[in-house]
Amino acid sequence: MYITRITVSGFKNLKHIDLIPGKNFNIIYGQNAQGKTNLLEALWISTGCRSFRNSKEKDYLAFDEDEFDIKIIFQDELRTQEINYRMIRKNIKNKLITLNGVVQKNNSGLFENFKCIAFLPDDIELIRGTPDKRRNFTDLCYSQLKPKSMSFIRKYDQLTAQRNAVIKNITAGKDSEESLDIWDRQLAAVGSYISFMRNQYVEKLSVRCRELYSRIAGGTETLTVSYQSNIFPQDFEYPSVPDSSMTEIYYRKLHEGIKNDIRLGYTHTGAGRDDISLKINGLSAKEFGSQGQQKSTALVMRLAQAQIYSEEKQESPVILLDDVMGELDERRQKFVCSIIADMQVFITTCNHRAVIAECENIFEMHGGRIITDSEEKSNVCSSG
Ligand SMILES: Nc1ncnc2c1ncn2[C@@H]1O[C@H](COP(=O)(O)OP(=O)(O)OP(=O)(O)O)[C@@H](O)[C@H]1O
Ligand SMILES: [Mg+2]
Repeated sequence: MYITRITVSGFKNLKHIDLIPGKNFNIIYGQNAQGKTNLLEALWISTGCRSFRNSKEKDYLAFDEDEFDIKIIFQDELRTQEINYRMIRKNIKNKLITLNGVVQKNNSGLFENFKCIAFLPDDIELIRGTPDKRRNFTDLCYSQLKPKSMSFIRKYDQLTAQRNAVIKNITAGKDSEESLDIWDRQLAAVGSYISFMRNQYVEKLSVRCRELYSRIAGGTETLTVSYQSNIFPQDFEYPSVPDSSMTEIYYRKLHEGIKNDIRLGYTHTGAGRDDISLKINGLSAKEFGSQGQQKSTALVMRLAQAQIYSEEKQESPVILLDDVMGELDERRQKFVCSIIADMQVFITTCNHRAVIAECENIFEMHGGRIITDSEEKSNVCSSG
């Protein structure tokens, strides 16, 4: 899919943006603090996801404006679609979202229709960060393929919160151990589905990452990615569809952990304790990887995400590269470009001359406005 027009006003520092991007590489350049990342963020929230920099929704609004208005027109395999995402200061809780003119109750319609993959400077946290970073990555990747599975993640969080509340009641002597059973049955059904989906996604990821990492590292290193379920053993043979035997194993594990849960005061068993193991030549990338190895691993995970999405959906996502290219040497930039060559890409950078890509359009961002475009700038980037 590709965007054919972006208009944004009142979103953070962005003012009267009206941009017609090219179908392939687009560079947005400018000095620091001009609004380059804000523009990518406006595209990103139009996928129905929360801000990739954890901004609160109320902070989307420009300090000196009472309303923001984002319009995205994009083309997918079948048709032209239009997203309109607005927020008005006096009614901040109530986002006004339409998809093809139809009012949306929530963000899920956007999530099912408009797909972006964002490469961010913080992606190194996928390697260095706590396991929830890797779980969230996997869950979002899988949900992009199967949007309905997002509801399982939400349900899991709700059920865990409810179970934890019952545990607190038991500790306070207000409830009995048996009252956990109703939650455990439900949690086992939802949790085993999550384990199934994480395993399925990580299997795909593992194949792509191994191949991509070997290429980026010049064939000298092997990246191994594997799913570490908190419930199912490493050699567990997952069924081809989630079934009752998985639910039963999950339920038993939860049950075995009850005494410990009551002692600790929360649920300590289950999908909420999963991790994704990343090893380079057999050593943990988190503990032993150099900065370069960790960055390459993060890059490869995003590229693999883009490849898997394109292959499964037979349609490419829109790629957002925030401040990523400028950090890479020429060989790595060419490698990244070769993988995303057929996709629409938005690259932000302070120095567009350092970006090697076959650019269709180069836009300069200044003070939240686009001040120049490719008509005035040409051939700044050399062909990759
Ligand atoms: N709600 C808001 N209203 C107005 N301005 C805002 C709001 N939120 C953030 N900003 C401003 O937006 C500016 C641009 O931010 P952005 O992160 O997009 O810059 P950038 O061009 O990506 O810079 P860098 O090259 O440093 O990454 C910042 O100076 C910030 O203060
Ligand atoms: Mg930025």
